[in-house]
Amino acid sequence: MKKILITGGAGFIGSHVVRRFVNQYPDYHIYNLDALTYAGNLENLRDVEDAANYTFVKGDITDAVFLDELFANTDFYGVVHLAAESHVDRSISDPLAFVVTNVIGTVNLLNAARKAWKDDLANRGATNRLFYHVSTDEVYGELHDPNEFFLETTSYDPRSPYSASKASSDHFVRAYHNTYKMPVVISNCSNNYGPNHFPEKLIPLMIHNIMQKKPLPVYGKGENVRDWLYVEDHARAIDTIFHRGKVGETYNIGGHNEWKNLDLVLLLCKIMDDKLGREPGTAESLITYVTDRAGHDLRYAIDATRLKTELGWEPSLQFEEGLEKTVDWYLENQAWLDNVTSGNYKKYYEEMYG
Ligand code: NAD
Ligand code: DAU
Repeated sequence: MKKILITGGAGFIGSHVVRRFVNQYPDYHIYNLDALTYAGNLENLRDVEDAANYTFVKGDITDAVFLDELFANTDFYGVVHLAAESHVDRSISDPLAFVVTNVIGTVNLLNAARKAWKDDLANRGATNRLFYHVSTDEVYGELHDPNEFFLETTSYDPRSPYSASKASSDHFVRAYHNTYKMPVVISNCSNNYGPNHFPEKLIPLMIHNIMQKKPLPVYGKGENVRDWLYVEDHARAIDTIFHRGKVGETYNIGGHNEWKNLDLVLLLCKIMDDKLGREPGTAESLITYVTDRAGHDLRYAIDATRLKTELGWEPSLQFEEGLEKTVDWYLENQAWLDNVTSGNYKKYYEEMYG
């Protein structure tokens, strides 16, 4: 059985990646390493927690000694690294936390793999190993010209503490490939949405607030543009790249689905009024324009042609369909949302894992 370490598997995207790998690959054993920060929630993985090919490991990637021991005790074939601090607004109030987890944590992980795989690395290329680093489109900065898109060759220009920390981690991953022949692959994805998204991010926050009839805080004038991708499509892209991506390469992943924030919120308002049987306009009346995010990037848009032409991946869902599925999930899983917003989701697992 190939042993695969997935970091950050209790988070939003990580939980979809873990589920996919556990279900699709019974000949792999999936180790989910997660520190269970505020963003980690094992309820996201209830359906696979008893699978024979799944093990949860509570641990922190900022702890180098712990990682060295883990790699010494388990012969991992590959790593899919998602663990990170992921919220831009939090990075503005506490940049150092992002340096510690996203930069130092990633270097710790690279070091642990380098030590454990040293014989293979000495063998130039180590084709029997793979270190997959999951990154973001935000490393490319912001776009102004509507005809421009981020390509794999676009220069890095991170503009928030979050994107600066992710860019730095990407550079370390490439540096380990160049210097130590670490077999790496990197993907840079656009904004994800879907089930299990923590309600500090735009779409789940708006869904939660519409349900509760609370204000819908739109930053600035709501003119910033994001390129949205359904989270299961991202998990499928990661699966594709993990198995068929070229070592040392980068792949952009995106939805070709650009929305101005205000238009997106208006669409959500319409869908939710309809689903909740409320008068049209009820949710829209909750929209409140608030102070803009500091240094707010104007537009992100990915050109994912390479992934399509070389590896045959394309998004599978139209946005309206994906958004309806997402809203339905939140309406059907209000207990998940209540547990997250009340903090109850921590209690059960803290008893189990400390
Ligand atoms: P998330 O915040 O929902 O989850 C992060 C997970 O990492 C949590 O389970 C958390 O407990 C864990 N974690 C945090 N610090 C840790 C540490 N020190 N040690 C071990 N585990 C730790 O994040 P997400 O939105 O699922 O993003 C996952 C990855 O994908 C991140 O690397 C992010 O940069 C990247 N990404 C996210 C998006 C997006 O739209 N959300 C888009 C592109 C790329
Ligand atoms: O592009 C990929 C990135 O997308 C990921 O790397 C990040 O981890 C992920 O958090 C996300 O970053 P954004 O900053 O784009 O996502 P967020 O959901 O925080 O915000 C989306 C847009 O909505 C952004 O323009 C800010 C705006 N916004 C956000 C919130 C939380 C609001 O107008 N109001 C809000 O309350």
